[in-house]
Amino acid sequence: MVNLHGSTVLRAGRYFVPLLFPACFTLWMLIFFQPPTAILRVSFQPTLSLPEQRVVDATPTPALPERREIIDTSPSQPPPPLEGRETVIASPPPPPPARRAKTETPSSPPPVAVTTDRCAGRYIYIHDLPRRFNVDLIRDCRSLCDWTDMCKHLVNDGIGPRITRTGGVLPSTGWYDTDQFTLEVIFHNRMRRYDCLTTDASRAAAVYVPYYAGLDVGRYLWGFSNELRDALAEDLIEWLRSSPAWAAHGGRDHFLVGGRITWDFRREDGREWGSRLFLLPEVTNMTTLAIESSPWHRNDVGMPYPTYFHPSRAAEVASWQRAVRRARRPWLFAFAGGTRGHGTDRNVDSNGVVRDAIIEQCAQSRRCGLLRCGARGQRNDCYAPGNVMRLFKSATFCLQPQGDSYTRKSAFDAMLAGCVPVFFHPGSAYVQYRWHLPADHRKYSVFVPEDGLRNGTVRVEDVLRRISAREVAAMREQLVRMIPSIVYRDPRATSGLGLRDAVDVAVDGVIERVRRIKQGMPLSDDGMGLWYGYFHRQ
Ligand SMILES: *[C@@H]1O[C@H](CO)[C@@H](O)[C@H](O)[C@H]1NC(C)=O
Ligand SMILES: *[C@@H]1O[C@H](CO)[C@@H](O)[C@H](O)[C@H]1NC(C)=O
Repeated sequence: MVNLHGSTVLRAGRYFVPLLFPACFTLWMLIFFQPPTAILRVSFQPTLSLPEQRVVDATPTPALPERREIIDTSPSQPPPPLEGRETVIASPPPPPPARRAKTETPSSPPPVAVTTDRCAGRYIYIHDLPRRFNVDLIRDCRSLCDWTDMCKHLVNDGIGPRITRTGGVLPSTGWYDTDQFTLEVIFHNRMRRYDCLTTDASRAAAVYVPYYAGLDVGRYLWGFSNELRDALAEDLIEWLRSSPAWAAHGGRDHFLVGGRITWDFRREDGREWGSRLFLLPEVTNMTTLAIESSPWHRNDVGMPYPTYFHPSRAAEVASWQRAVRRARRPWLFAFAGGTRGHGTDRNVDSNGVVRDAIIEQCAQSRRCGLLRCGARGQRNDCYAPGNVMRLFKSATFCLQPQGDSYTRKSAFDAMLAGCVPVFFHPGSAYVQYRWHLPADHRKYSVFVPEDGLRNGTVRVEDVLRRISAREVAAMREQLVRMIPSIVYRDPRATSGLGLRDAVDVAVDGVIERVRRIKQGMPLSDDGMGLWYGYFHRQ
């Protein structure tokens, strides 16, 4: 469900997110030097791309006055410090992206020499990190979280205990009580059995750093010193820099996976939330995967939240897909979640408003199934996998407003249940999961801009009723086909399962990204083109 770890957590994370908006808007203006209409036109071209190095390596920027102006429109927010990452913006605008990418990407692949190596171009090297960076954290699982029993959730290679009381909703195999913050453990265990590992880093297409960044920082998010939050991350960087594999590309062929949202690793100067891991210069050279990525940082890529389903055989997936296709869906729409605070922070407040509107509209409609979650920290119906999946499997649409941050685990539970997600902000999916979700969001989801809920002019039910049965069927079929690639298969399963899961998709994405970096090619679209207006406005 929403965030098991309570809303204070991410609210703090959210607090500085809005401060990034103006900077980013400026960034896009500079990069494109085109009127918005032009951006709209190119936004769905898959080849739209920007050379990342320019963004990374740039020097101070002339854009600050403009940025300040945008900030000043929000009187309740003091402008953030002007130094820091924002100064990255300044490099000269790249040539028109779409065209350039085309000339550089041959339309048909060049002839490849016949090879018998089925792993050619797919080798991964895994850094053999000292235990303090990963397995020791699991050994000390009691200290990871005060209110969730992480020892219980970390069993079975990170997917948690098997669900035995399935209440007739879930199949008797393949379902586990998975905590939403265990991705890095699941990923590591999947990679250990990756079929093209190499012990020779120079042969590797990409280098994986199996550091459990989220478990590490998760221990110190509430009430510890910044030194403690950053200690292991800094230790890691020192270790990496002295490893032979680092030098070849300055870490630009490296990637790591954080099982928490990116804001937990982006403590900007003057802020009090999270570690600085993702801000360390070495880490900005790497590809960073997390369950919520930063729309402003092009080396950040979103990974699906782990759901409760971890198939170990293709037949388990096929059988679930059949069940989802056949499910009777008496509810037109559904919502599972709780209210959000109406604090003094302007943005938290406005999210609370949207949540309230959604809960109220759902409660008042005879066609909406509502699963209300209680006060934070309180385990209740919402956290019982069977309850959630039962509701989502009996609804056509599932409402997915922002949580404490842009994204929610619930969106993936919904998709897994074949329930068409309704998003209210593009940050909740469209700019996040660019490797795992179709580029055309209309194929699998409905978008209802949250403004209409804030000002009370939009009834969600009216919007959804206007969508034809044929359109619904097409979206649901798309979701059913996406199921394998948004779930994490059981890491203990032996390979050769004929299942391409979220890890396989991510590894391919990393390999392709690193290949482009090594060859100095422009990187592919980050999906922001159409949406940037939704980000700078808040
Ligand atoms: C990032 O990569 C570049 C290019 O390989 C390298 O020159 C630079 O030293 C790297 N940065 C760090 C902090 O290692
Ligand atoms: C409410 O928001 C919608 C969507 O942004 C907008 O089109 C409409 O004009 C707004 N109505 C009022 C009364 O502000």
